[in-house]
Amino acid sequence: MTTEPDRNVGLELLRTTEAAALAAARWVGRGDKEAGDQAAVDAMRVLLATVHMSGVIVIGEGEKDHAPMLYIGEAVGDGKGPETDVAVDPVEGTNLLAKGLPNSIAIVGLAPRGAMATFGPSFYMDKIAVGPEAAGKIDLDAPVTQNLEAVAAAKNGRVEELTVVVLDRPRNEDKIEAARQRGARVRLISDGDVAPSLMTALPGTGIDMVVGIGGTPEGILTACAMHGLGGEIQGRLAPQSDKEKEHIEAEGIDLNRKLSHRELVIGEDIFFAATGITQGDFLRGVEYTSDGVVTHSLVTRSRSGTWRVIESHHRWEKLVPISAVPYRAP
Ligand code: FBP
Repeated sequence: MTTEPDRNVGLELLRTTEAAALAAARWVGRGDKEAGDQAAVDAMRVLLATVHMSGVIVIGEGEKDHAPMLYIGEAVGDGKGPETDVAVDPVEGTNLLAKGLPNSIAIVGLAPRGAMATFGPSFYMDKIAVGPEAAGKIDLDAPVTQNLEAVAAAKNGRVEELTVVVLDRPRNEDKIEAARQRGARVRLISDGDVAPSLMTALPGTGIDMVVGIGGTPEGILTACAMHGLGGEIQGRLAPQSDKEKEHIEAEGIDLNRKLSHRELVIGEDIFFAATGITQGDFLRGVEYTSDGVVTHSLVTRSRSGTWRVIESHHRWEKLVPISAVPYRAP
C-alpha cells in the first residue's frame, strides 16, 4: 500500500540545529562552555518556535528552576501542529566546543507525545551502539569480546580490523581493557559519545562500535537517530552515585531493564537532526567563507528510513538583516 508523501518535520528541525551550531561556532576554542551553550540554546529556541507542532521538551537543559530556556516541560513549536516530545542538546560536547576539539554537534530529536522514554533523575546509561550490518546481532549483556566478534562476523571482517570508541573514564576501564586484549583498535574520547555512535551507522567513518557508560539523554537522542539510520543502540540505566540510584528508584523506574532504541523511543514517526559545530570525523564543523558561512548536517526520518546529509550555505548579506538571531554583529 502506498500513501501520499507527508511532512518531514526533520527538515524543519534542521534549521534549529543549524541555528544552534552557527551561534555556538562563535565560541569554538574560547574556553567558555557555558557561554557557547547559552548562545546555542538561545538560537535553537528562536527557530524551534517556527516549527509547526505542539511540542514539549522532554530532554533539555534541565529542570525549570535551573534552566531558563529549553527546560524540561517547556512548550515549544508554534503550538498548533501535532503533539510531540522534543529532545534537545544544543551543544553535545560542551568541553569539545570550549577546547576546539572535534565532534561537538547541535542535536534535536522528535517523536509523537509520550513516545520518548523519560528517566527523570538518571544521568548515566550503559550503552552499546552499532551500524546496520550488526544491528540485531549485539547484546549489551554480552562481554565486549563477544560483541566485537559479532560485529566482525556481520561485517565479514576481523576483530583486529574494528575500531571501537569508548569514553575515557575509569568506569569504562574494564571494557577498554577487554577490547584491547581481544586485539580491537580502541579510540578513547574525552567527551561526546553521540557523534561516534552516529558514525557506526554512517559509511566511511571507520567507527564500528561504541560501548561504555555515558549520558542517558545522549542515549535517547542516539536512539532517535538509529531509528532512521537502521543501526542499533541498547542501553540500561547505570547510576554512578547512591543519590542518583535512590532518585531513580524513588521514581519507580526499573534499573535492570535493558532497552533497545525501539523501546527508548517508540514508534515510526521519529525525526533527528544534527549539525556540526567543531570539525568532526563525519559532520564538518561550521566553516566561515568570504561572504557567509557553511554548515553540514544530518537529518533522519524513521518511517521512510531516509537520511540526508545537508550542506547549507548561509549568506550574511541576506541573513543578518532578517534574522532574529544575532549570528554576526552588523
Ligand atoms: P556535555 O553535556 O558537556 O555536552 O557532555 C556530553 C557528554 O560528553 C556526553 O557525550 C557523554 O555521554 C557524557 O557527557 C559523559 O558524562 P561525563 O562527562 O559525566 O562522564
